[in-house]
Amino acid sequence: MSNFRIYLIQSLAVILLIFAGCQKQATPDIHPPVYGVMGKQAMVSTAHPAATQVGVDILKSGGNAFDAAIAVQLALAVVYPRAGNIGGGGFLVYRQHDGNIGSLDFREMAPLQAHKDMYLDENQEVIENLSTLGHLAAGVPGTVDGMIKIHQKLGSMPFKSLVQPAIDLALGGVILTEKEASKFNEHQENFALVNEHRTHLQNEQPWKPGDTVFYPDLGQTLTLIRDQGRAGFYDGTTAQLIVEEMQRGGGLITLEDLQNYQAVWRQPIVGHYRSHKIITMGLPSSGGIAILQLLAGVEPHDIESWGFNQPKTIHLMTELERRVYADRATHLGDPDFYEVPIDMLLDHNYLTERYSSISYDRKTSSQDIKEGHVEIIESMETTHFSIVDALGNAASVTTTLNGSFGSKVVVKGAGFLLNNEMDDFSVKAGIPNMFGLVGAQANSIAPEKRMLSSMTPTIVEKNDTLYMVVGTPGGSTIITSVFQTILNVIDHGMTMQEAVNAKKFHHQWLPDEVYYEVNALDSATLSELSTMGHVMKPRSEIGRMDCIMVTDQGLEGAADSRGDNTAMGY
Ligand code: GLY
Repeated sequence: MSNFRIYLIQSLAVILLIFAGCQKQATPDIHPPVYGVMGKQAMVSTAHPAATQVGVDILKSGGNAFDAAIAVQLALAVVYPRAGNIGGGGFLVYRQHDGNIGSLDFREMAPLQAHKDMYLDENQEVIENLSTLGHLAAGVPGTVDGMIKIHQKLGSMPFKSLVQPAIDLALGGVILTEKEASKFNEHQENFALVNEHRTHLQNEQPWKPGDTVFYPDLGQTLTLIRDQGRAGFYDGTTAQLIVEEMQRGGGLITLEDLQNYQAVWRQPIVGHYRSHKIITMGLPSSGGIAILQLLAGVEPHDIESWGFNQPKTIHLMTELERRVYADRATHLGDPDFYEVPIDMLLDHNYLTERYSSISYDRKTSSQDIKEGHVEIIESMETTHFSIVDALGNAASVTTTLNGSFGSKVVVKGAGFLLNNEMDDFSVKAGIPNMFGLVGAQANSIAPEKRMLSSMTPTIVEKNDTLYMVVGTPGGSTIITSVFQTILNVIDHGMTMQEAVNAKKFHHQWLPDEVYYEVNALDSATLSELSTMGHVMKPRSEIGRMDCIMVTDQGLEGAADSRGDNTAMGY
């Protein structure tokens, strides 16, 4: 090609780029699409390569997505102990290949002896760390009953074969990644503080990447679960060890609490966004209601033409988030204990009125929505995984111990961590929890009540077929990360991997600040948002997603490089 023709083509390309820039402030970088891992038949995306491998092995040996979900959940309890768990809880949202949908709530419950003011001193002030660190922070775990209920309803392989990979990992040893070694080291002091015995998470020397950790006690507990099912955890030896641990550390969980615990099948929350069907988690997760409220607020606007992470787009989204998180704080709680006005919160007229106070050139003050002053603490310690099998069954699971390594209490002799999920209750009206979230009566503590969650495992349909499986950890940022990821695909035309990689931002009503990932926004965008009144605060990371999209080329698995997350397909 002559130099002149090359010059002409380059000039034309520059003119086109300038023109495109004037017409549409879409994704600013012009680059070839970035895809995740592609698979023709099936896909697994989790927070840890070893757990992903377990899921793929189960699928390849003939298991369905739900068999794989059980095996992955249990494997994560071994290889990713800061969030994977048998001592915590979570939610499953599923869609079977025939379009049948459902959800399982295996969220923890407050023990029978719990009461509204259990974390307050005689002056009604919150006692520091009591709901986050140590035995009193733990709710009654739901994961094991959850896995058993999933197996009974949706599983196809023998339960024993789904537990075995986790046993093999616990007894065979887990090699620490760099990120895991660093997390283990970060919490050594707290492990020593709350455990009388020496746990397998502790080490004389700082842990290093490549070190192998063995979990013989956890392997034994998983063996009891494999052989006895529910009774292997909620009865007999394991239950006895939990109760003894509680007695040693002043916790409340009794044998009666354990025997009473039941995971619950619930109707998922279903709504629509730009002709896509959104299937997501209902109460006691706030996520589903919040996501539908947020999407309804975006739908009347052409944010595609406004552009990805442009000031106008961010302004609208944070103004919606401000109002939705205020609703969350006031109205949402365990529906078995509190009458939540779900229909009203999702009603078109209600939302139109609710959003009518949004100004398009100035932020609203959160004080004008409702009063409060809070501080937010970063935490990513929940985990999400997505699985699609060769039949087209989809499992979207978010599971948690709440904080990193939960309460830091390892049940002596049983080898697993207990959650600190009690902090997800509103321990005192208007006082923020570790995520800076406030609440009131709807989410106050009561015996056998489930604490409000933000976990938002979600499935999206397009043209009545499976389109996306989406979810993430991140405490209060879960809802806004899932929200942005859905918009990134549907409005901004990103691939699944691009939507996961995309830098994110977050507003939660209180504190009245917009958090954005470092390097997410250029100085002009920051300056424009500041001029509109937004208080902009950088944050190291938001979201750690594991998502799957059905494309014309097959399944795209998108694992988040913010963590050790890994997608594998075939
Ligand atoms: N523990 C985090 C959540 O459930 O939202």
